[in-house]
Amino acid sequence: MPQLTIALTKGRILQETLPLFADAGIEPLEDIAKSRKLTFDTTSPDIRLLILRGSDVPTYVEFGAADIGVAGKDTLLEHGGTGFYEPLDLGISRCRLMTAGVTGQAAVSGRMRVATKYVNLAKQYYAEQGQQVDIIKLYGAMELAPIMDLADEIVDIVDTGNTLRANGLEPRVEIAQISSRLIVNKASMKMKHQQIDALIDALGSVVQEQQRKAS
Ligand code: PRP
Repeated sequence: MPQLTIALTKGRILQETLPLFADAGIEPLEDIAKSRKLTFDTTSPDIRLLILRGSDVPTYVEFGAADIGVAGKDTLLEHGGTGFYEPLDLGISRCRLMTAGVTGQAAVSGRMRVATKYVNLAKQYYAEQGQQVDIIKLYGAMELAPIMDLADEIVDIVDTGNTLRANGLEPRVEIAQISSRLIVNKASMKMKHQQIDALIDALGSVVQEQQRKAS
C-alpha cells in the first residue's frame, strides 16, 4: 500500500485531533508531546504524521508534500485558494472569528486601523462591508492592540471570550464559525483514493459518534 502522509496542526488542535485519530485506529508510536521529532510513524504501517504550525498545513497539502491535513477553518480561509479538497468537518476546536474593539467605544465610521494575523481574511471582510481599513499585521496578542491605540479593531478567534474581557475588549461582529477540517491534496485523492476514502469514512464515523454522544 502507498504511504499516506498526514499533516497535523500542533498545539490545541493537536490535543483534540489525536483522540479522533486514535478512535479511527491511528496512533503515533511515540508520545508526540515528549519528542522534538516532527514526523511520527503510527499503528497503521502505511500512515505517517507530520506535526506543523497550522498556517503551514495547507501549504504542505496544496503542494502534495502531505496527502492529507488537519487545520482550522480560520487558517484555511486565510490561506485561500482552491489547492485542496475539504471533505470533512472534524467538529473540534470550535470557535468564532470575530471583530472586537474597546468595550463601550463605538466603531470608527471613517478609515479604520485593524490589527490581525488574518490579513487576507480581514481585507476581504472589510471590503465586503464597504469599510476602508489599514491592516496592521501582528503575529499574536492581538487583544493588546486596541488598548495601546495601535488599532481601532482586531480580527481574531474568540472561544470563551475571556481573553477579550481580560483586556477590556468586547466582541463586535461574527465573521465566521470555525472548526478544524480535514483537507486532501487533489492528486492524492485520485492516486490513493481507496486509502483516503477509507480514512475519511473512518474519521467521519468517529466524528458522528462524538457528536451523538455530545447531543
Ligand atoms: C486564541 C485567540 C485568543 C484566544 C481566544 O489564542 O488568539 O487570544 O485564543 O480564546 P478565549 O476566547 O477562550 O479567551 P491562542 O491561545 O490559541 O494563542 P495564539 O495567540 O497563539 O493563537
